[in-house]
Amino acid sequence: MFTQQQLKEHVAQAAVEHILPLLAADSVLGVGTGSTVDLFIDALAPHRERFRAACSSSERSTQRLQQHGFQVLDLNTVETMPVYVDGADEIDGRLNMLKGGGGALTREKIVASVAERFVCIADESKLVDVLGKFPLPVEVIPMAAASVSRRLAALGGKPARREGFVTDNGGWILDVSGLAITAPAELESTINDIPGVVTCGLFALSGADAALLSTQQGIRTLAR
Ligand code: A5P
Repeated sequence: MFTQQQLKEHVAQAAVEHILPLLAADSVLGVGTGSTVDLFIDALAPHRERFRAACSSSERSTQRLQQHGFQVLDLNTVETMPVYVDGADEIDGRLNMLKGGGGALTREKIVASVAERFVCIADESKLVDVLGKFPLPVEVIPMAAASVSRRLAALGGKPARREGFVTDNGGWILDVSGLAITAPAELESTINDIPGVVTCGLFALSGADAALLSTQQGIRTLAR
């Protein structure tokens, strides 16, 4: 029986093998955030000469990449990336994701939007039928926390500020519990339209292109 940590290590290694053929010598790789991505960065380190540089979705991942000797580029200098690799807090069978447990959702969405492919890496515990058991993170401009909270409550959620946490962008996070997310793309649009919302952690309007899920029996691949 593999532990959750071992499952994460397996999928990190599988992700390296999955993405290396997609990268050329001048490619920039998009890198997400989280404990699974940390292991992916570690597994990728021996291959850093195979591509040009990385573009990261958080200070945390940037530091880890730089510690391994990767060049990390400012997104403003990058036009395209063949692939972006990131974890998820939940993913459904249609490859809609709920993300942002680590609070990096906005930069994740931005960096992913510049990449041609999103590859989600996770252990099998993240696969769900309906998104929303994990509280949905919503990044807000601090002055709008109360007004956005009222609008989220009107949608049926229970928002709670993530106390003491400030995002890399200076925003606050509202974690919204109690939402049964049966129409993720519609809810993503609705929440993102609330004044003061930077973005919510639903990745459904543009979900993953493929998911590598680590199971006790090996890696399971889901693709669009
Ligand atoms: C970071 O903000 C999140 O979106 C992560 O990608 C997500 O929480 C997955 O993290 P783990 O790999 O640590 O579960």
